[in-house]
Amino acid sequence: MVIKPKVRGFVCITAHPAGCAAHVQEWIAHVKSQPPLTGGPKKVLVLGASTGYGLASRVTAAFGAGAATLGVFFERPSEEDRPASPGWYNTIAFTQAARDAGLYAKNLNGDAFSADIKRQTLDLIRADLGQVDLVVYSLASPRRTHPTTGAVHKSVLKPVGQSYTNQTVDTDKGIVSTVTIEPANDQEIADTTAVMGGEDWEMWMQALSEAKLLAPGAQSVAYSYIGPEVTWAIYKNGTIGLAKNDLERAARSIDSLLKLQHSGGRACIAVNKALVTQASSAIPVVPLYIAILYKIMKAKGTHEGCIEQMARLFATQLYAPTGPQFDAGGRIRVDDWEMREEVQAAVKEIWPKVTTENLTELTDIAGYRSEFMKLFGFGLPGINYDADAEPHVPML
Ligand code: NAI
Repeated sequence: MVIKPKVRGFVCITAHPAGCAAHVQEWIAHVKSQPPLTGGPKKVLVLGASTGYGLASRVTAAFGAGAATLGVFFERPSEEDRPASPGWYNTIAFTQAARDAGLYAKNLNGDAFSADIKRQTLDLIRADLGQVDLVVYSLASPRRTHPTTGAVHKSVLKPVGQSYTNQTVDTDKGIVSTVTIEPANDQEIADTTAVMGGEDWEMWMQALSEAKLLAPGAQSVAYSYIGPEVTWAIYKNGTIGLAKNDLERAARSIDSLLKLQHSGGRACIAVNKALVTQASSAIPVVPLYIAILYKIMKAKGTHEGCIEQMARLFATQLYAPTGPQFDAGGRIRVDDWEMREEVQAAVKEIWPKVTTENLTELTDIAGYRSEFMKLFGFGLPGINYDADAEPHVPML
């Protein structure tokens, strides 16, 4: 079938297998163009391995350090006449490339929050890898079924305490408008923390530790975002920000576990840059901020995508010979270039001036859109999108 993009709001419901593969190849090429990661990870578990920051972490570990990788993710498989979600095709492309390079790469598609997927993952590590020395926690999910209570928690992206009014953009239609978001209630706050907070990360690390599947000195990292004041009401001080505070709490407790029981291991939070991913495109206001940010950072030559961010995180922080540099809150900051004073001053200046009419001129909405389409394998050079493509591709 000929596979064309079908955008519905902030998602595209189709994905192109060859386009996704070409996107993954671009990421692999970037990592290969960097100096190899000496002293990098050897056996890595990536939770949320199929798209965004998790996939970029996996590509960096495998092609930068020659690591064996086990990826866990939750993607819609392909069918005879229906494309899969993009992470399915990304993972196939990654796995093929890793195995061609002689690297171990295996995958588990299922709910990482469940006890069953945890058990299957532990069994696979025990059988194939013995132990892992790095666990990347990069899940972004709208819901979580709690493995012990069975309750279904749904996360919301809302302010806390009071309503929030600001500009936002419909990235598909290019319309700038004002949006007011009502504050979350207590239940919504608790639910968002249950989904995007640290409890599940702790459960993973406890289970791995108890099963003696963590190597001496094992590390674990999870990702967070802080961003500028203009987004604080919806992000840092909103429901997702409170969940991220809980992720930081979990980082401290996992850090103690790894230090005490796994010969000086370490757990930490890396604060990453705001980027176009399936997760971030769902947040109100943030896509407009990203479109402005891209314009400024590209002009300054400091723009990075997921793969550049993760390659820098691994090389200059997690596996730097001198070890990571932490901020006052104990976090690694690879959002440092985004948060530079001159970048944020430029964002502040542009922000109130943006309208539907000048969106193309004042922001990099074109760059936003092309990055968004690339997430689904569209707009990659060298792919004939008018040709027949086989949507049904089995997982490797
Ligand atoms: P993404 O949407 O690209 O990736 C999410 C991953 O989680 C995918 O591999 C998906 O299959 C997996 N997943 C979702 N639910 C799952 C489940 N129940 N079981 C197993 N796997 C599941 O998201 P993105 O943006 O890469 O986010 C990853 C982390 O990075 C999140 O913690 C996010 O808050 C953080 N982050 C994102 C930033 C951004 O601008 N995109 C900025 C800074 C941090």
